[in-house]
Amino acid sequence: MELQKKIRNLADKYFDDVVKIRRAIHANPELAFEEHETSKLVSDILGKQGVVVSHVAKTGIIGTLKGTKNGKTVALRSDMDALPIREATGLPFASKNEGKMHACGHDAHTAIGLGAAMILSELKNEIHGEVRFLFQPSEEKNPGGAPFMIQDGALDGVDEIYGLHVIAQHDAGTVGFCEGEMMASADELYITIKGKSGHGARPHFATDPIVTAAQVILGLQTLVSRSLDPFSQGVITIGSIHGGFAPNIIPEEVKLVGTLRSMTKQWREYAHARVKEITEGICASAGASCEVLIDKGYPVLRNEPGKTHFAEECARELFGSDQVFKAERLMGAEDFAYYLEKVPGTFYRLGIRNQKSGITADIHNDHFTIDEEALRTGMAMQAYLAMRSLAQV
Ligand code: NI
Repeated sequence: MELQKKIRNLADKYFDDVVKIRRAIHANPELAFEEHETSKLVSDILGKQGVVVSHVAKTGIIGTLKGTKNGKTVALRSDMDALPIREATGLPFASKNEGKMHACGHDAHTAIGLGAAMILSELKNEIHGEVRFLFQPSEEKNPGGAPFMIQDGALDGVDEIYGLHVIAQHDAGTVGFCEGEMMASADELYITIKGKSGHGARPHFATDPIVTAAQVILGLQTLVSRSLDPFSQGVITIGSIHGGFAPNIIPEEVKLVGTLRSMTKQWREYAHARVKEITEGICASAGASCEVLIDKGYPVLRNEPGKTHFAEECARELFGSDQVFKAERLMGAEDFAYYLEKVPGTFYRLGIRNQKSGITADIHNDHFTIDEEALRTGMAMQAYLAMRSLAQV
């Protein structure tokens, strides 16, 4: 039988089990690095499939499935954490953990990873090499689970890696690809501007950090408009400003907090230097002092073009070309980027929308849910990618 057909049949065979697993995880969401129950469920199911389990990165799991023939090692990654959101879907399997919700589809990602393990376990005798299942903690929260997984050996000996993320703007049954830079790096800015406090009516005896902060905010806006190639992308947003307490008092200091997004490593580094230069320059001209802290978050997510084309080709073989879309680039960040810095691979999108059934809410929304048909698509795709990739010499 053709491999595509075999995989599709196995996805059908395990579909009901995977739906049950997804609902069980959905009902018991756990936040970053607290995925104890989820991790236990994952290791129990992997164990039953004959996958060798090791516990890493606090609540993370590496599952190893060795084929009967020699070959490469392919990693398939799922993330397991939920968000601090109060669920409002009213679903029968809605969150039982008050204030926590799988509103980003990581319940689906985990169930899909397990579904792929079920399919691949059954094809063990046809596997050339090794499939490495990565179930990582904390995708939602900086510093992310990926660096800890890597530190604990998740990528040792891995030749390529694939991961997916649900997307509410595309229908269930579809998958989308994007080569090159797909998601941004995200860094947090913490700026403190120190002046000299004084009477609001006697500004000449003070150094006003409020006026300086206003200039800094506008100055930082020139970062994207003047320091970035117009054909490139970047964002700077100051999302918080705090300073002062009375109409007639010039305060001592103002604090600004913001986010900086970039699509290339080079501009990211340049932008960090420019944020410091602009802030320090404006503050110096005002006689104020400043402290600029940049808390580095996830790096730019860059999909290796060869592996991306390969994955797209696999999707066409498995589902037909009309089920494949061109994935949009997003300024959001994703810690899968860390794996892609070390090993070639691709991160792709899995449609979960179903307008007829009213499934349209975006991720991170308290009404977010998925058309579970996407689970069938996701597990077939991950399993097929591993099989096809390992069949290549
Ligand atoms: Ni997510």
